Amino acid sequence: MSCRPSSLRVPNTALAVIVELSRRLRDLLLHALHKTRTPQSARVLTSACRASRRFGAGPALLGDIQGERAKTRVASRREHFDSMDDVGDFHSNHYLRLNQRRLEHLSTLGLPLTGRTVLELGAGIGDLSPFFLDRDCEVTSIDARPENVDRIRSNIAAYYAFYPSSGRPEKHRVRLFDLEKGDGAGLGTFDVVHCYGVLYHVADPARMIQLMSETCLHLCLVETCVSPGRQSAIHPTREDATAPSQAVHGLGCRPTRTWVFDALRSVFRHVYVPIAQPNHEEFPIDWTGTNSGPILMRAMFVASREPLDNLNLIGALPDRQTRC
Ligand SMILES: C[S@@+](CC[C@H](N)C(=O)[O-])C[C@H]1O[C@@H](n2cnc3c(N)ncnc32)[C@H](O)[C@@H]1O
Repeated sequence: MSCRPSSLRVPNTALAVIVELSRRLRDLLLHALHKTRTPQSARVLTSACRASRRFGAGPALLGDIQGERAKTRVASRREHFDSMDDVGDFHSNHYLRLNQRRLEHLSTLGLPLTGRTVLELGAGIGDLSPFFLDRDCEVTSIDARPENVDRIRSNIAAYYAFYPSSGRPEKHRVRLFDLEKGDGAGLGTFDVVHCYGVLYHVADPARMIQLMSETCLHLCLVETCVSPGRQSAIHPTREDATAPSQAVHGLGCRPTRTWVFDALRSVFRHVYVPIAQPNHEEFPIDWTGTNSGPILMRAMFVASREPLDNLNLIGALPDRQTRC
């Protein structure tokens, strides 16, 4: 037998209905979020935690939401790592090490790269883009393969997944663009043009250097496979067009350093070579031989609109280099 005044019976029933409804709503929300454990749903749950605290939700409800948020955060990170399984040779140990050595080398050159607009040619899956994003640059990455372009987006999201409030991914644009078909006018102009690992994947490297010139306002950074020898030649080379990191049209080249240097000089007033090479087997430091041997040979060039007063660079092709 109840000793409550009869006037409270109605509100009590209404309260019970509201509590039941909100419990069901909560279950529905948690169920929906459980199915889509993404950084976004973790953010929704953070807002839910705040709202629940503000409206004085009981510890049980708050605990449920917080628990779900923790699980969602872990799952969304795991999902990002799992989605990296099909990135093929771009995430092989060989490739990862090459990236490390090339980027540490670039950072030792003392070039003015912070806060620039950057065009990244033949970006692969975007593993080099964070080098510039982390230096507050606005980066436009292009590649001719739709699957690489798609992967760039999820790859960049994964790089910054632990930092949902980082503004860096928003400064990144991605475009499908074939360097052998499109022209520079459609891309716009950029402070820095970054051309690592792609000049030797096109059949007509002179055309590509023309495109670099059309799009570059200040600095052009070129890293490419080359052939040994002092002569000027491009050495056309067949490639496997089905491999995601190779020439999209199946024909590339292995130009000599002389060819690259002169081609850059034909469109940029100032062309330099770093005194030091990256700490990697594919970057020779003695260029006096004429045989390439079994491994690829790589060289790096810096082309500029303005003269660069930089002790890490020389304005000619050195026979010998050091290590960075
Ligand atoms: C060796 S990967 C280099 C990736 C990255 N730049 C790096 O240095 O690690 C070459 C990239 O060039 C792209 N590529 C090949 N031919 C191209 C073309 N005609 N136009 C644009 N991108 C092309 C490939 O799809 C691939 O992503």
